[in-house]
Amino acid sequence: DRTPIIAPSILASDFSRLGEEVARISEAGGDWIHCDVMDGHFVDNISFGSAFVEAATRHTDKHIDVHLMISRPDHYLDRYTPLADSVSVHVEADHDVAQTLSRIRAAGCLAGLAISPPTPLEKVEPFIGQFDILLVMTVNPGFGGQPFIPETIEKVQAAAEWRAKGLADFHIEVDGGINTATAKIAREAGADIFVAGTAVFKASDAAAEIEALRG
Ligand code: DX5
Ligand code: ZN
Repeated sequence: DRTPIIAPSILASDFSRLGEEVARISEAGGDWIHCDVMDGHFVDNISFGSAFVEAATRHTDKHIDVHLMISRPDHYLDRYTPLADSVSVHVEADHDVAQTLSRIRAAGCLAGLAISPPTPLEKVEPFIGQFDILLVMTVNPGFGGQPFIPETIEKVQAAAEWRAKGLADFHIEVDGGINTATAKIAREAGADIFVAGTAVFKASDAAAEIEALRG
């Protein structure tokens, strides 16, 4: 099923009103709530940890999509799997990727493998069949509000070809600089999950923006 899934990123929300923001975006039609966890080491920014994600979960019944931008996802995984419906870890991080993906699935979550713009797609190839989501970063991870990097779309296209060849079935999630124009480009390349922080949270009409992102 390739029905577009819109995943607003709470990184762009007003943290002082987290509960209201999560409820607002859920009522506006957001499908998945995307939670960007950053450790100040894997990326040059610190966002929030599991206590914050737990607080967000109390204000929505939606699918919780956790994106771990941290150096040792294996060390912190058990704090997130009980809160989440999907957890994505980076192929560039310092861990046994196959084992981490297997632990995510064993915990009952969809397993996501994330890849940053400078990393060639070949790095995720050994793990085909072991992830449910390929998270293609369309900006360098670390900050919301950055412009979409067009070259990353080649990875979406190549991953969609793997899928078309029947190598495995997985979602392709794009994350960073997604607005109605870049969502269209990504959708045409084969993406089916669209993370949008700024576009959704800063929109004057979040429901209309979410509908527009579906294409
Ligand atoms: C970047 C994060 C993204 C980001 C998306 O490191 O993984 O989820 O917050 O935000 P926008 O849509 O503002 O680029
Ligand atoms: Zn993210």
